[in-house]
Amino acid sequence: YRSLRIALLGAGSVGSQVARLLIEQQHELAARVGAPLELVGIGVRDVDAKRDVELPRELLTDDLETLVAGADIVVELLGGIEPARTLLLEALAAGADVVTANKALVAAHGPELFEAAAVVGAHVAYEAAVGGAIPIIRPLEQSLAGDRVTRVMGIVNGTTNFILDRMHTEGSSLEDALATATALGYAEADPTADIEGFDAASKATILASLAFHTEVPADQVHREGITGVTDAMVQQAERGGRVLKLVAICERVAGEDGADRVSARVHPVSLPGTHPLAAVHEAMNAIFVTAESAGDLMFYGAGAGGPETASAVLGDLVSMARRHVAGGPGMPVSTHANLGLAPFADVLARH
Ligand code: HSE
Repeated sequence: YRSLRIALLGAGSVGSQVARLLIEQQHELAARVGAPLELVGIGVRDVDAKRDVELPRELLTDDLETLVAGADIVVELLGGIEPARTLLLEALAAGADVVTANKALVAAHGPELFEAAAVVGAHVAYEAAVGGAIPIIRPLEQSLAGDRVTRVMGIVNGTTNFILDRMHTEGSSLEDALATATALGYAEADPTADIEGFDAASKATILASLAFHTEVPADQVHREGITGVTDAMVQQAERGGRVLKLVAICERVAGEDGADRVSARVHPVSLPGTHPLAAVHEAMNAIFVTAESAGDLMFYGAGAGGPETASAVLGDLVSMARRHVAGGPGMPVSTHANLGLAPFADVLARH
């Protein structure tokens, strides 16, 4: 089989790890896919910028449009809405498949991307967008597609979990702990997205949309970050044997008119020290899913970090590449659109 042309957009903490693994493990990945995965270029804003991981100079380009135009699969790790959205719409229009870790983009423009993909029979995969290394998109979309999910509750932002954990265990200030989380590669380029809860809210949007087979608009998610959490609150929680966590909660709630609705919200909660989520430390994530037949399921692992998130990106990439080699749909990949279940009548955000 001919090589598959992979265009990588972004060489930040995740992108540089994806590039490294694609190069270092090319033979193993080729054997697994049944065709070589050829990294044809790495699109960046500044080819001369200093990077932690040394990348082959000849692969770096700031001409992202041209790079995307020649690809079979585009891996988007730029973050932010633009130019990611426009580049991916162009890639999809040209028939390329897309792998993205961009939670803000999927939360705000997922349906637009999925529709563009459906028109040409392409696919959009985004396992890395929620929970870093944790498999959670495919389990919700595929493994649980025959069940009725009632609740998804989790710690989905590593940076804020790291900060709250350090405030509890070391008495660190929010600022100091954030600086450490940034140095470790957990925080967003603009850490306001982490500490104000925007990142977790994007993830709640994605989780709720998948779990409840409906489009939950990002602005319908109640959002409260951790900037209001003080040392005194942490100490008070400690005295009561409790721990403060930033939690995303998505659930099916019965409306007064008898129709089910979706509630999605992100805010700090004071959990009993015995609660399983209380044991999630550092930048780890954990997502609890409750479904009518399956009961309680727990997904736990590294929610942020370059190599960890790169694992999920490469998983999507291998799945996509196998589809190309098989010449058909083969292994299903993530889209909201292919479940065909009726959406709820309404979406309700409440605290
Ligand atoms: N800034 C995010 C976090 C990265 O801290 O969880 C992973 O999405």
